[in-house]
Amino acid sequence: MIVLGIESSCDECAASVVVDGRKILSNVIATQIDMHRPFNGVVPEIASRIHTEWIAPVVREALEAADIKASELDGIAATNRPGLMGSLLVGLSYAKGFAWSLGIPFAGVDHVRAHLYAAHLEQDIEYPYIGLLVSGGHTIICRVDDFDTIEIMGTTIDDAVGEAFDKVAKFHGLGYPGGIAVDRLSYEGNDKAFNFPAPSLHKGDHRYDVSYSGLKNAVINQLHQFQNGDGDYTKADVAASFQKRAVQILIKRLNRAVSDTGINRVVAGGGVAANSRLRRELSEVSGIDVTFPSLTLCTDNGAMIAGIGYHYLKSNGGDSLSLTAAARVSGFRKTYPK
Ligand code: KG4
Ligand code: ZN
Repeated sequence: MIVLGIESSCDECAASVVVDGRKILSNVIATQIDMHRPFNGVVPEIASRIHTEWIAPVVREALEAADIKASELDGIAATNRPGLMGSLLVGLSYAKGFAWSLGIPFAGVDHVRAHLYAAHLEQDIEYPYIGLLVSGGHTIICRVDDFDTIEIMGTTIDDAVGEAFDKVAKFHGLGYPGGIAVDRLSYEGNDKAFNFPAPSLHKGDHRYDVSYSGLKNAVINQLHQFQNGDGDYTKADVAASFQKRAVQILIKRLNRAVSDTGINRVVAGGGVAANSRLRRELSEVSGIDVTFPSLTLCTDNGAMIAGIGYHYLKSNGGDSLSLTAAARVSGFRKTYPK
């Protein structure tokens, strides 16, 4: 089954052609990073306007690169949730219209589930496993029994880890986009320069939860309070010390999830899964067998949408063309106090 996947939930306008949920024929990603850079963050109105201009050429390029004619497509999948409403609607509407005009089925895809599927595009992975979904909007530790059967074990109770990377980078002028800027700068810094705080969530319901707002605020507002020694420090030291703690928070919860469930296979996904320190440290944890997608499949892309979309199209024939977009999805965030 040849599936076209379309992703436009944030600032990447992406399309990809994937065969049978596995073989990537093309993966075109047009990023709007330069357009949002002056604002140090994604401006929703600008994002959706650019998507309307780019979506048709991006899809055309994905078909051309795959050497596939539109008439050869068996189905089209598009992200319909969660994300920026205006941006989502562009890709979704385009996908529905294109599918209708070709007389082929269409499937709406949950972006978060698609991130967890990304690693399956590159290798066979057996279920069950512990999923680690780390992106700009979500931080989730879950048990995954099937491509669509996910049991949330822990989430962030406040900020997502990617959001913390982005805000720290923005405040300290480390570069844009924040995650990759912190990652790169960290190589030049001393990760022991600051001893930033770790959340103390460990009891009952919070056993697998994380929190990033305390760390983020410490790095932004209380820097000197956590400084080791009185000497000078550099921006790179701030980046390295923050990144060390941010990664440590995730690994601690993952270790708990793995030892409590006895499931030692871990599959990561989402933009922060591209982080070099997370990739290195998690790979070195004994007793955990971790799989990371390659870097281009960690951040937003159309291949993960086509990949998981294939399974929906195959199992239930896809969705009605009346399917709409949703900015938020319930169940992926915990709210405290209850
Ligand atoms: O999955 P993604 O592309 O979009 C969302 O679904 O949110 O993730 C974007 C997030 C951003 O917060 C970005 O700063 C972060 O992933 N990110 C990274 C790295 N590359 C991207 N964070 C840490 N290290 C990286 N190398
Ligand atoms: Zn994403």
